[in-house]
Amino acid sequence: MARVSRVAWLYIAVVAAAAVTVIMPWHANAHDLQWWIRLGVLQLLFLVCEATPTPLATRQSAWSPSSSATLAAVVLLGPMGAALTGAIAVISLRRQLMMAERLFNGAMYAVSGFAAGKAFEAAGGVPHLPQPGDFPAIIWPFAVAAAVHVVINHGLLWGILRLTATGTRPGDRTRLESSVALLLTSDLGYAVLGLIIAALWPVVHAFAAVLVLIPLFVARWAMGQFAEQQRAYAATMAALCQAVETKDFYTRGHSERVSRGSGMIARQIGMRSDRVEAIMFAGMLHDVGKLGVPTKVLQKTGPLTEEEYAAIQLHPMRGLEIVREIGFLNEALAGIMHHHEKIDGTGYPMGFAGDEIPEFARVIAVADAFDSMTSTRSYRAARRMTEAIEELRKGAGTQFDPALVEAFIAALHRDGWRLPERAAAPVDQQTVTAQDHDDPTAPLRVIESY
Ligand SMILES: [Fe+2]
Repeated sequence: MARVSRVAWLYIAVVAAAAVTVIMPWHANAHDLQWWIRLGVLQLLFLVCEATPTPLATRQSAWSPSSSATLAAVVLLGPMGAALTGAIAVISLRRQLMMAERLFNGAMYAVSGFAAGKAFEAAGGVPHLPQPGDFPAIIWPFAVAAAVHVVINHGLLWGILRLTATGTRPGDRTRLESSVALLLTSDLGYAVLGLIIAALWPVVHAFAAVLVLIPLFVARWAMGQFAEQQRAYAATMAALCQAVETKDFYTRGHSERVSRGSGMIARQIGMRSDRVEAIMFAGMLHDVGKLGVPTKVLQKTGPLTEEEYAAIQLHPMRGLEIVREIGFLNEALAGIMHHHEKIDGTGYPMGFAGDEIPEFARVIAVADAFDSMTSTRSYRAARRMTEAIEELRKGAGTQFDPALVEAFIAALHRDGWRLPERAAAPVDQQTVTAQDHDDPTAPLRVIESY
């Protein structure tokens, strides 16, 4: 949580006030020693879980399995016990947490724990040590409690992330969407563990918490591996893009912008979030095949010979060859291979037309051309966005898929577009691409051979 603004502090204060309000009448259980012992064990379990959160590659904060302890408290102790279990997050063992984070986390977990407890009772659950005869009837109220816990927790968390966000990087939204599915799945798993703790308690007492910690840590390790893999994917992408941009300085940032534009179109046409993520990978890597094109051809200032033009036309195939073995790319490979096909069949490398062209490639073609037109090239200044949109519309039906052009324009109006910054090329890279193969308004000049 960076930069706590006044509004964020106000938000935290409201959540904290709600937590204090629900925890006030805690003395209701003051004389039940067993109740307090169970609370102490569950608070300890909460702290241990909370201190070892699962690192998520795509989230500003990591997600901890501590909700298992809160949901076990819902069954064993009731709303007040669940609230007090969650409130212990204030004294989190994670030393790097700031005061505001501790306060917010404690309040958030207390409120969501209390609400889950109330939902459990409202759905017919009675907080007590569950007996074998209580199953399966207890499952329904527990499921309701778990759902309420997830919704309130994520709702409050979403609020504070909105207020403290330091700016959204391109692609964050997609990654967040895919990580929400992951979070909800892990929440479901943690909720089941909470019920297991409650069910085991009458048999093994506090040892139930220890028994449950073992699968929790195994799950955490597995998710950590997954997050590590995601980070490795991102690093692979970044390294390949860096290689392309080192070779061709003037296209720096192009890969990332085409990736973002492709994602905007994909979302606009309602693509599934995993396909949106895949198309953003494809956009990122679409020109990776330039690595296989001689630099002197990429940077040539005059018209190209037929051989040189053929080398340019080969770059989508070269791209495919370079990244084909990267397993997670799947559908993205088709986007890389066919991003220069045209709807009228005059593109390359295969000369596909209309629907023969894979959807990913049709999407990337639009974003690619738009970014090229709105970027400065050595032979012309950057075009204004309105002009570039006009050019896209002109090419709709011949070069571009008309539906995707309109989808992109709609997405541009909704999300806006961050134009590339202009910066001088480094001294050793003053010789730059004179002709941009992505620019539909300036086709490559080729010397006819007779
Ligand atoms: Fe290309």
